[in-house]
Amino acid sequence: MHGVIASPSVSLALGRRAPPARANRRASSRRARARGATTKTFASVREPETTSSSSSSSSSSSSASVAVETADKWSDGIEEFDVDAIEFVSPQKDAAAISNKDGAGATMAAPDWMTQLNRLWGGKSEIPVADAKLDDITGLLGGGLFQPLFKWMKEAGPVYLLPTGPITSYVVVSDPDCIKQVLFNYGSKYIKGTIAEAGAFLFGLGVALQENEAWKIRRKAVAPSLHRRYVEAMVDRCFGPCADRMVSLVEDQINADGGRRERVNMESKFSQAALDIIGISVFNYDFKALTSAAPVIQATYTALKEVETRSMDLLPTWRLPEQFLRIVSPRQKAAQDAVTVIQEVTTKLVDDCKKMVEEEEAVGGAEAWARDYLNDANPSVLRYLIAAREEVSSTQLRDDLLSLLVAGHETTASVLTWGTFELLKPENAEQLRLLRAELDEVLGDKPFPDYADMLKLPYLERCFHESMRLYPQPPVYTRRAVVEDVLPHGLGTIPAGQDLLVSIYNLHRSPANWGPASQAFEPMRFGPLSAGQPNELNTGYRYTPFSAGPRRCPGDKFAVLEGMAIWAVLFRRLDMELVAGHDVVMTSGATIHTRDGMLVNATRRETRRKGGGDAVDWANLRPAKDIGEGWWERGIETKGGSGADAKSKCPMPFVK
Ligand code: HEM
Repeated sequence: MHGVIASPSVSLALGRRAPPARANRRASSRRARARGATTKTFASVREPETTSSSSSSSSSSSSASVAVETADKWSDGIEEFDVDAIEFVSPQKDAAAISNKDGAGATMAAPDWMTQLNRLWGGKSEIPVADAKLDDITGLLGGGLFQPLFKWMKEAGPVYLLPTGPITSYVVVSDPDCIKQVLFNYGSKYIKGTIAEAGAFLFGLGVALQENEAWKIRRKAVAPSLHRRYVEAMVDRCFGPCADRMVSLVEDQINADGGRRERVNMESKFSQAALDIIGISVFNYDFKALTSAAPVIQATYTALKEVETRSMDLLPTWRLPEQFLRIVSPRQKAAQDAVTVIQEVTTKLVDDCKKMVEEEEAVGGAEAWARDYLNDANPSVLRYLIAAREEVSSTQLRDDLLSLLVAGHETTASVLTWGTFELLKPENAEQLRLLRAELDEVLGDKPFPDYADMLKLPYLERCFHESMRLYPQPPVYTRRAVVEDVLPHGLGTIPAGQDLLVSIYNLHRSPANWGPASQAFEPMRFGPLSAGQPNELNTGYRYTPFSAGPRRCPGDKFAVLEGMAIWAVLFRRLDMELVAGHDVVMTSGATIHTRDGMLVNATRRETRRKGGGDAVDWANLRPAKDIGEGWWERGIETKGGSGADAKSKCPMPFVK
């Protein structure tokens, strides 16, 4: 363990503890002050209208139901839900769950004998059944189910049934309007379901997998801590310096090896850098994962892999008592040991921080800290939560922080791994050239970008979005219907009690949503740079990388800025090539991992002065690849202009 980065100069003191009711009132006003000056309007929580025609028309109706904060340059029309308005529905068990599984074949999910039992069950449903064959999953055993789900979507359509046992099944949903409906109706029609049960051993009481009222309270406490001003401050204080640390280490290795470093595993580097970033910004703690062993990385992977495996287990033996599992199953023992590692780390950090706050309380000045906490040397999420004086137990605080650690570190690292892999493929040489041209133009020889620079790097941001489109993290979410729900476009009726898999991987890769070149990496597919950056609202939910509705990721801006900072430093300072003969193969453990790492050979890149790179006509930039007729216009459909209109607009959408 390394030390908490405590600044001796911090003059923080929170005053005496008030009784709970008063403390909560003070907490919310402090939170409001700490959040910054802008008045937020909350999105309507009523179900967004879903049209029966196309996803493009649905996008405009949904954006109308969400308030836009125009003063915010990072504004994307997406606001935090008013979770108090959600009317939770108690789960109902419906004996008439979909049971006509004709056509289902032998799969890892449903072996043949189980499928035969299914057929005895009888009943009719209009939802097609996946014709799943053993071949579909051969070679993927031990990997993730998201890839065969894509194949079955092409055969069975955007909503289909996947039997997983004699009386169990998943409805797999890949249509934009259906996904929107399912995600927006969290609480009133759907809960998280399987993943919340399977992940309880890891996430405990934390915000990420809690359900219903318990989740609502945690969401209201945690989401404001990731507010915009805090994230902006983190770019300069943490994201840029950590990216610099990562690349400097590789540069040192290159120098030591005489000018070229072979077989650098970038997947590990991104994981380590992302852990350092989340450690510093959430806990004010430097894991120094880039320079020393950080068992918490392996522990996170092991635990998340177990969450995924449990979600799909035919025989959920993990429901047996923990003590028993430790003895009989090495896999369960490893998972529990991993959770212990993560919990010990987070408990220590919470305790250290509480101690620090209490010491500072003794010398007075709490109000001042809460008001000015962004000017403080130490504005971590943990300090924010403790200063907000929510009356929560240490276990609750630990689990919330653990949620942030787990949800926020693997995801960003995976997007970076796969995006780097795409950018280094020979077929994407032009995309890499453009990315570097933009970096040279804006950064020159500056070692790392600050927040102001980020606003001038729209092509870089597009690359990050295109990576999230092709490699969404996680690729699949679970939901469970608590009441019957009729899906749009006549795609089926979901009975109460039915489990669902929302496949974002299918959504993002479907030719129906992204055209004939839907599998190709092309950051300009979203339209001209003047149209802004893609999100679920302006793409009619064809691109939904951070989920949607009440459970939408509160760390979205954190993740995008973090990813941009790391890439900006990496691609400006290093030349990399994929190692010949090393296959980079997808597998999963909640997020999409590589099977054997993502290896590159690296050399130092020649330093350019500001503006010294290739000149690019950004305003007229179009896709380098053929993405199919009409798909350029469909990139971003509801914001800014595409086509001719774009020429008159500034290519840097955030710069006035
Ligand atoms: C590229 C990076 C990231 C991606 C793709 C991503 C994606 C997601 C998605 C899809 C969900 C919701 C899943 C569902 O609806 O079932 C989610 C939830 C969450 N994410 Fe992220 N995330 C990223 C980074 C982060 C970061 C950096 C943080 C924190 C610093 C974070 C914190 C959370 C939390 C706390 C939740 C749970 C919210 C709730 O259930 O109310 N995420 N994320």
